[in-house]
Amino acid sequence: MTWGRSWLKMETNKGRYVQQIFSSIAKRYDFLNSLLSLSLDRSWREFAVRLSASSKDSRVLDVCTGTGELALAYAEEIGQHANILSTDFCFNMLAVGQEKFKNRNLSFFIPIEADTLKLPFRDGAFDIVSVGFGIRNVSHLRKGLSEMVRVAAPGGRVVVLEFTQPVLPVVKQVYYFYFKKILPLIGNLISKNRDDAYGYLPSSVMEFPDCYQLLAIMEECGLVNVNYYLRTFGIVAVHVGNKE
Ligand SMILES: C[S@@+](CC[C@H](N)C(=O)[O-])C[C@H]1O[C@@H](n2cnc3c(N)ncnc32)[C@H](O)[C@@H]1O
Repeated sequence: MTWGRSWLKMETNKGRYVQQIFSSIAKRYDFLNSLLSLSLDRSWREFAVRLSASSKDSRVLDVCTGTGELALAYAEEIGQHANILSTDFCFNMLAVGQEKFKNRNLSFFIPIEADTLKLPFRDGAFDIVSVGFGIRNVSHLRKGLSEMVRVAAPGGRVVVLEFTQPVLPVVKQVYYFYFKKILPLIGNLISKNRDDAYGYLPSSVMEFPDCYQLLAIMEECGLVNVNYYLRTFGIVAVHVGNKE
């Protein structure tokens, strides 16, 4: 395992480590996301929302919502009256999100503190269940995905936006250099994080299943017609599947 340095000390509890990491970087999360992705993160979320094929009547659940950036992308696509619930187990991330939405006079962010491994919703409650850059952080990938599938309605969609490992050799080299060397340096410096939060990011991506593996896992978790779509030289993938 090559998790961030602190993770090595807490191998038995990834969930707690992840919660701690996001609690400590919550205030700078949006700024750093935009800086470190060269503002591409917004377009990745917009792309994921388009693939969700959501409409104003869709009941949407965004898990691991953090500061609600994906909820924001939904509302921009389908309007202010979008029917979205947003869950995360990190209070500080939700609080930053709530403040951001309040300052912009936006009312559609409904944050709920909840673990993706145990969602407090009945089976089939949502037409769309999405996750943006979150499922990689969930301690049991299959369990998290299965919970997302459980709360999706029959015929509903599960959308997973996540970093992935590029296959083109030149892209791979440049990306890995940036991702492993530059990004942790800038991220940890600006977020003033001592737990190597931005060292955890590349490590978690390297450990995460590749596009083909994730597709197969999503099928194992009960989805059909699973496809994936790559963005930005294959560094980001959106997987979409249907519940039967
Ligand atoms: C990288 S952030 C992504 C935030 C947001 N979705 C976005 O697109 O920017 C990952 C989020 O996943 C949350 N998370 C990780 N594991 C979780 C779990 N088991 N249950 C709920 N939230 C979780 C973290 O607290 C964090 O806010």
